[in-house]
Amino acid sequence: MKISIVIPTFNEADSISRLISDIRRNLELNGYNNFEIIIVDDNSPDGTWMIVDEESRRDSRVKLIRRINIRGLGSAIVDGMRASTGDYIIVMDADYQHPPEVIPELIERAISIGADIVVASRYSRGGGVRGWSLLRKIISYGALIIAYILIAESRRTRDPISGFFLVKRGVDIGCVKGKGYKVLLEILVANPNAKVIDVPYVFRERLYGESKLGLKDIIDYIIQVLELSRISKFAVVGASGIPVNLGVMALMLALGSPVDIASLAGIESSIAWNYLWHEVWTFKYMFRGGVKGVASRFVGYHVSVILGAATQYAVMRILYTILSLNPLIGQLLGIIAGFIVNYTIARRIVWIKPRL
Ligand code: GDD
Ligand code: MN
Repeated sequence: MKISIVIPTFNEADSISRLISDIRRNLELNGYNNFEIIIVDDNSPDGTWMIVDEESRRDSRVKLIRRINIRGLGSAIVDGMRASTGDYIIVMDADYQHPPEVIPELIERAISIGADIVVASRYSRGGGVRGWSLLRKIISYGALIIAYILIAESRRTRDPISGFFLVKRGVDIGCVKGKGYKVLLEILVANPNAKVIDVPYVFRERLYGESKLGLKDIIDYIIQVLELSRISKFAVVGASGIPVNLGVMALMLALGSPVDIASLAGIESSIAWNYLWHEVWTFKYMFRGGVKGVASRFVGYHVSVILGAATQYAVMRILYTILSLNPLIGQLLGIIAGFIVNYTIARRIVWIKPRL
């Protein structure tokens, strides 16, 4: 059994040698002699990569990936993971905020429990943070809450934004883009059935150097969470269906079609359009079934929107008949009414109970 440790670095010259020795010692003490330590350095101006290069000459288990024209924590982690060959891959920071003593525990728990993902967690009982300003605490909790609200898969761990975690080989990292800070979140979303467990640890103060977390990272984070969030994708797709609906209806009317046929054709086109995007985008990790699955999901999606669709048509028809309103405006008001109906059904019938 082989262990891979992946460490992204940028200007960590003060700590990297000591960290490599500490990791080596912690692994060997626990009988893990088959390992590699992959350092992914973005050509640090302080020469971190030169130190790693020397280390790798002394111990071939230390490997350097020096990236010249790319910069970024997330993509560094992804590159390191892709280059790794171990059965278990551990990702951690170089600044001692992630204590190397926790590594053997992550491996032991992964093996004994048969977990696919082990998260070193600050927010589990026994874990914590040391030396954080109030602002940093607020940012971190804010990030946690945003993830919990928008991404169901994140709720499998107490610390979905941890930068310290283990994944077993076989966990799908193929779709992880590594944009933004939160690689673990992406992995959790891409692997909805992976078994996840937490190991508490105390996030320590930085020993050397300084944090690179800035405002841009916070914005990136929010964008990343929205991109990963199914509900925001669902809303985007729904909104994109409106021009499809109205466009098809307008085209049909222009071609001389009766109002009812045009309205229903618009509605059906938007349902088919939305279905397509939900299939390939919103729910792409949820349903990977075969051709048969596609047909049943297509029908199922129709069933789920039938009342909203009926509302759309009825509102258009009533406004057109009674107020002689332009049928396209009637259709748009129908879309809004249909949205309210769909939301109400979802809220009152499907998702009635608060989640614990
Ligand atoms: N290759 C590379 N490229 N490495 C980088 C870059 C980069 O652009 N930016 C930062 N790193 C390395 C640092 O050298 C360090 O080893 C690690 O990534 C974390 O960087 P820090 O700047 O220390 O991040 P942090 O302490 O603010 O954030 C940590 O804690 C967060 C939880 O609050 C990280 O672990 C985050 O991933 C984590 O979410
Ligand atoms: Mn740090």
